[in-house]
Amino acid sequence: MSEKIIKSADRVKNIGEVFTPQKTVDFMLDQPEIKTKVNSLTATFLEPSAGEGAFLVEILKRKLLYAKTQANGKKDLQNKLLQALSTLYGIELMEDNVEMLVMNMVNTFRDVYFKTFSPEEQNQKILKSANVIISANMAQGNALTYKTATGNSIVFSEWKPVGKSKVQRTEYTFDSIVEGSGPTGTVQEHSEQLDLFADFDAEPEETKAIKYIPVKWEDVYKQLKA
Ligand SMILES: C[S@@+](CC[C@H](N)C(=O)[O-])C[C@H]1O[C@@H](n2cnc3c(N)ncnc32)[C@H](O)[C@@H]1O
Repeated sequence: MSEKIIKSADRVKNIGEVFTPQKTVDFMLDQPEIKTKVNSLTATFLEPSAGEGAFLVEILKRKLLYAKTQANGKKDLQNKLLQALSTLYGIELMEDNVEMLVMNMVNTFRDVYFKTFSPEEQNQKILKSANVIISANMAQGNALTYKTATGNSIVFSEWKPVGKSKVQRTEYTFDSIVEGSGPTGTVQEHSEQLDLFADFDAEPEETKAIKYIPVKWEDVYKQLKA
């Protein structure tokens, strides 16, 4: 079956939308310097014009295969599959493409998961956590302005392994990542209560960075904040 690489001439003209054929994706990912990064549980990839995931889906397949060679038992493998997934990030402008991107990432993870674990071994928490990671890492937005369609900053999560089975999630705005401005660029949340007696001449209320509690990889789906 031939691959569909364009959706319409208008989209090619307006947003430069041409999807990369699988043969080209394979050729590029087979380059030695890329291969080294694919065969790593920590090297991250960001595709700033992700389309429907031609590259990210193939990198995910390859990283999951690699994770299987690195695991120490079934439990560790479940953690490592999530860890591999957590290293992949995408930005895509068009809503329909992002929907396909997310669906393709979810299905790729699930296919591998179901082929790797017997029904008795399968754990729904892993699949729910995979969905949370994919939603956090695949952003709909403009990679040039760093904004979402609603004008908010694009936000990504860092997934930092803690010990053998836990992960610390921290959110950063995309512009702070590009500028390398570190913790000052982390996502801030304001106090939820409006203080009716606030002194309007006073300095703006102090904000605090959103902080997630380190949890087991399988509990990522709970999204527990500190
Ligand atoms: C040439 S296609 C490549 C898609 C995918 N990387 C692939 O190889 O199949 C470019 C993609 O970038 C998206 N795009 C165009 N401008 C963008 C922008 N400013 N920010 C994010 N995505 C953008 C388009 O919607 C399109 O899906």
